[in-house]
Amino acid sequence: MIDEIYIHETAVVDAPCKIGRGTKIWHFCHLMPNCMIGEECILGQNVFVASEVTLGNRVKVQNNVSIYKGVTCEDEVFIGPSAVFTNVVNPRSAVERKNEFAPTHIGKGATIGANATIVCGHNIGRYAFVGAGTVVTRNVLDYELVVGNPAQHAGWMSENGQKLQFDAEGFALCSATGEKYQLVDNKVVKL
Ligand SMILES: CC(C)(COP(=O)(O)OP(=O)(O)OC[C@H]1O[C@@H](n2cnc3c(N)ncnc32)[C@H](O)[C@@H]1OP(=O)(O)O)[C@@H](O)C(=O)NCCC(=O)NCCS
Repeated sequence: MIDEIYIHETAVVDAPCKIGRGTKIWHFCHLMPNCMIGEECILGQNVFVASEVTLGNRVKVQNNVSIYKGVTCEDEVFIGPSAVFTNVVNPRSAVERKNEFAPTHIGKGATIGANATIVCGHNIGRYAFVGAGTVVTRNVLDYELVVGNPAQHAGWMSENGQKLQFDAEGFALCSATGEKYQLVDNKVVKL
């Protein structure tokens, strides 16, 4: 237990690594050397974080998620239980591909649903929402909702996590917060 950081006694944290204040690391997690975890994050049971992975502040990672080298999460990303990341596009056991990692970047506030699979080399936009069980094989736009295998466009989500219904002029209000959004040229911006 380090001041203001909670690390369950069954977790293995390899030094050196950086853990921000207020972060909680639960049962059976494994953090490899040189990973960087921000402030007020929660890593649920059995989460693996590889070397050189960076997680921003207030990132929540649910049970049974492995975050491999090449994955970066900005602040307030939510990763649902048993979501799967990858870092090599064409792995072969007999071929060394450690220098061929394709990066995955997850923008601020994005949600990855339970059991989703993120094929590496793609960008998940800010506040994007990947539905449960989705297989992501392309970039996901800011605020975009995708579901299915392969991931298909299924609408747009507000920062609060509500579906946005755009009117003929391209404006929508979040049903929870009243915040206003605009859709222009297939891009959503919060006004
Ligand atoms: C994507 C999501 C937000 C959509 O929720 P919703 O707006 O209530 O969706 P609806 O139930 O109205 O479904 C709309 C359509 O999308 C389909 N759909 C919804 N979620 C889907 C998913 N994850 N994969 C494939 N199709 C999905 C529904 O079957 C429905 O299809 P239909 O119009 O042909 O009947 C939700 O289903 C989801 O996946 N949430 C993530 C949950 C999660 O992983 N939580 C982790 C923490 S426990």
